[in-house]
Order: sequence, then C-alpha cells, then structure tokens
Amino acid sequence: MRVLGIETSCDETGIAIYDTEQGLLSHVLYSQVKLHADYGGVVPELASRDHVRKTLPLIEQALRDANLTATDIDGIAYTAGPGLIGALLVGATIGRSLAFGWQKPAIGVHHMEGHLLAPMLEATRPEFPFIALLVSGGHTQLVQVNGIGEYELLGESVDDAAGEAFDKTAKLLGLDYPGGPRLAKLAEQGVAGRFIFPRPMTDKPGLNFSFSGLKTAAAIAIAENGNDLQTQADIALAFQDAVVDTLLIKCRRALEQTGLKRIVMAGGVSANVRLRAALAETMAELGGQVFYPRPEFCTDNGAMIAFAGAQRLAAGQHADPEVKVRPRWPLTELPPL
Ligand code: KG4
Ligand code: ZN
Repeated sequence: MRVLGIETSCDETGIAIYDTEQGLLSHVLYSQVKLHADYGGVVPELASRDHVRKTLPLIEQALRDANLTATDIDGIAYTAGPGLIGALLVGATIGRSLAFGWQKPAIGVHHMEGHLLAPMLEATRPEFPFIALLVSGGHTQLVQVNGIGEYELLGESVDDAAGEAFDKTAKLLGLDYPGGPRLAKLAEQGVAGRFIFPRPMTDKPGLNFSFSGLKTAAAIAIAENGNDLQTQADIALAFQDAVVDTLLIKCRRALEQTGLKRIVMAGGVSANVRLRAALAETMAELGGQVFYPRPEFCTDNGAMIAFAGAQRLAAGQHADPEVKVRPRWPLTELPPL
C-alpha cells in the first residue's frame, strides 16, 4: 500500500510517500525557520499561511521524485494533532480534499505517534514491547509501547518540555530561534564543571519531568557571571548536561520498573548528539538496545506521518470524510492497530 503523508502541525511542511512493501519512496521538507526568526518563535497565523503556499507544490514534488502520479497513491495520511490548530487545518483540509477527489481512504495521524514510530523507518527496527522516550518541542514523555496504538504513559513533563526548555534557555543566551540546535552547538565550546545545574525531580520517585527550573538556573548564572562568549558556552554545556542526565536517570528508572531492555528515542531533541551518545552508552552498559531515527527524521517530517498512517490504513482503519483536527490529543486515546 502506497501512502502520501502530510505533516503541517507546526513550522515545517513535510510530505512523503511510504510504500508498505518498498519502504520510503520520497520525502521533501520545507522549513519555515526564516519566516519566524524575526519574531523569536513560531507565529501561528504566518505558519498556517505558509503551509497553504507550500503543501500542494511539495506534494507534486514528492510524486515527481518517486516517479509516481496521483493514481499510484492508495491512501492519504495527514497530521490531525496535536499542534497549532490553523496549521493542522491546512494539512487536514488538503489531505481530505485529495482523498475525496482521488476516492482513496484517508486517516488523521497523531503527531507524537509519528515521532514514536519514526525509528521504524530505519533498517534495524525495534521489536515490541519497548520504552519510548519522546522529546520534542511540545512534549516530554516516557511511554511503554506494547504495539502500535498500545501506549501506556509512564511519565511526562509537568511544565516545559525538554525542547521548550532548550529553546527558552537559548533565548536567554541571546541565541536565535530555533534555539535547541544552536545551544547544542555553543555547548561544544563549553568547559565542564564551571556550572552545575540541578537534575530536577530525580530525588523523588516517579517518572515525571520538570525542566522549567533549569532556565531559571541559567538566568541566575547569566546574571551573576556576565554574558561573555565563554560564560555562555559554559552555561549551555551545564544546561545540556543537566537535561541529558535527567532524561537518562528517568530512562534507567523506566527500564528497571518495566523490566524492558529496549528503548526508542524520538522527537526533535533526539537529534541532540550528546543525548544520542549518552543513551547509547547507558544501554550498552545495561546490555540493552537503543533505537533512534536518523537526525533528519528526529525533527518534524512527512516520512513519519506517511509511515504511521500507512500502518493504520493497511490495517483497514480510516477516518470519516470530515475535516477534524485535535490541537490537544492524548496519545493514550489512540486505538490499537
Ligand atoms: O519534534 P520537533 O521537531 O517539533 C515538535 O513536535 O515540537 O521538536 C522541535 C524541538 C525544538 O524545541 C528544538 O529546539 C529541539 O527540538 N531540537 C533540539 C535539537 N534539534 C532540535 N534540541 C537540542 N539539541 C538539538 N540538536
Ligand atoms: Zn514534532
């Protein structure tokens, strides 16, 4: 089954074609970073309007890249939530309209399920059950995954998500949006040990996270030590180490609690080189396995939506022919495959 995937939940227009037999046939991405840079963050209305401009041309390009035409497509998958309502509505409306015109089934995909399944686009796929650490701009969650749609939430952030904390701390350091990857780059120049930030909520039992205090720790360090380049790099490193360490402590705890030996990491922050290396080291030490997507499929993309949608469409699931999106949508409400 050949599925067209459409991702428009935030500030990237991602389109891909996934074939359940042949794998990923094409994928294209347009990032709106330049559009929002002057504002220091995503402006929802500008995001929606840009998705309107980009989605159809990118669908045409994805078809061309795969040497296919519309008649070769068997189903359509669009991100239906969570995300920005206007941005979601653009992808959902286009996806639904094409499905109506082409007379093909369509399904609204949960954005975080897309992230969660993205490691399955790679050659070595994790077997169920496994633990998933989802670290994006809007979510930080530890999930026990027993199968597609069989998700048990073990813990989540009670305030800022990991990516959000990266972005806010980057802003304090004077870095441009999107701050996460820039902060990670700056941390490469940092000297370890000059600043040590707390590992929030690790002294209490449980698997929830709280990252908002770390940006306060960074703000205090800036206020007390000035804002020269070396200080900025040292703070960036201390912040990144604190986030990485905290995530690892909770991952170990989740593995211990469930007795599982496999972990999947996905979402924008899983592109972080230090976090990838640290999780790999931990899993090697524990004799377990770790899976993550290639860096370009960690952040938002159409491939993960085409993949997740293809699994559900191939199993006979599809949505009613109405444009319905859910800006807030708990992952645990998804039906099993
Ligand atoms: O998954 P994603 O692309 O969008 C959401 O679903 O939110 O995640 C974006 C988040 C942003 O907060 C961004 O700063 C962060 O992922 N991010 C990173 C890195 N690359 C992206 N954070 C730390 N290090 C990175 N290399
Ligand atoms: Zn995302």
